[in-house]
Amino acid sequence: MKIVMINGTPIHGVTYHMKTLFLDQLKGDNQVIEFYPKDIPAFCVGCKNCFINGEEKCPHYVSVNAIWIAMLEADLLVFAYPVYAIRAPASIKSLLDHLCVHWMVHRPEPKIFEKTAVIITNSIGAPNGSAQKDVRTSLSWMGVSKIYTCGAGMMGDVFIDKMTEKHKEMLLRKMSKLADKVSDIKPRRRKSLKVNLLFSMCKLQHKMVLKSEAQPSLDNQHYIDNGWIKR
Ligand SMILES: Cc1cc2nc3c(=O)[nH]c(=O)nc-3n(C[C@H](O)[C@H](O)[C@H](O)COP(=O)(O)O)c2cc1C
Repeated sequence: MKIVMINGTPIHGVTYHMKTLFLDQLKGDNQVIEFYPKDIPAFCVGCKNCFINGEEKCPHYVSVNAIWIAMLEADLLVFAYPVYAIRAPASIKSLLDHLCVHWMVHRPEPKIFEKTAVIITNSIGAPNGSAQKDVRTSLSWMGVSKIYTCGAGMMGDVFIDKMTEKHKEMLLRKMSKLADKVSDIKPRRRKSLKVNLLFSMCKLQHKMVLKSEAQPSLDNQHYIDNGWIKR
C-alpha cells in the first residue's frame, strides 16, 4: 500500500519513535513517502487566490502541491506529531490552512473520499484529543470518512533515550494495535454518514449560490464538472 506520512516535528524523539514502530508493524509491502516541517509550506499569506483564482496561484503552490499529489496517490494518510500548547504544532496547522481549498465547501477531490487516515500524537501530559481534532476536522471536511487516532501521554518521559521500559512497551502496544487496524485497508467505496451529510449540505449550498451567479465561481464550476450539481 502507498502511505503518505506527514511528520509535524523534525526531531528524532517520541513522535519519530512512534511512527517508526507503526510503520514497522504494518503488514505487506508498503511504499512510504514522508514530509517533514522543512517540506511544509510557509504560513498562508491570506491572498485567497486559491479560492478565487485557482490553487496554482498560491505563492506556496509548489510545496503544497507536492504534498497534495502524494496524498491523492496514497492509500493511507498518516499524520504524526507532538502536542504543542494543547493543539497540533504550527507546521501541521500551516499545511491544513493551505488545504482549506479542498474542503467540501470549496473544491473537494473525489479521490479523497476513498482514503483512510491515521493520526498519531503524543504529549508530556495526558490529553491529546484537542490536538488530534485539528487534523481530524480538516480531514473530515475534505471528505475522509475513516480516521483512526492514537495518542500517548508520556507522563513526564520527555526524551526517547531515557524512556522507561514501561513506556516503551506502552508505545509498542499502541502502535501494533493501530497498525493491525489499517494493514489491509481498501479504497473506501462509500462515504460515512457524517461525510455524506456534510457533502449534501455543501451541494445544496453550491446549488443555491449558483442561481445568483452570472458566471459560476471556481468552486461551483468544480461541482458542475464533477456532476454533483447542474447549471
Ligand atoms: C512548544 C512545546 C509545547 C508543548 N505543549 C504541550 C502541551 O500543551 N501539553 C503537553 O502535554 N505537552 C506539551 N509539550 C510536550 C510534548 O508534547 C512532548 O514532550 C512530546 O513527547 C514531544 O514529542 P517529540 O519527542 O517527538 O518532540 C510541548 C512541547 C513543546 C516543545
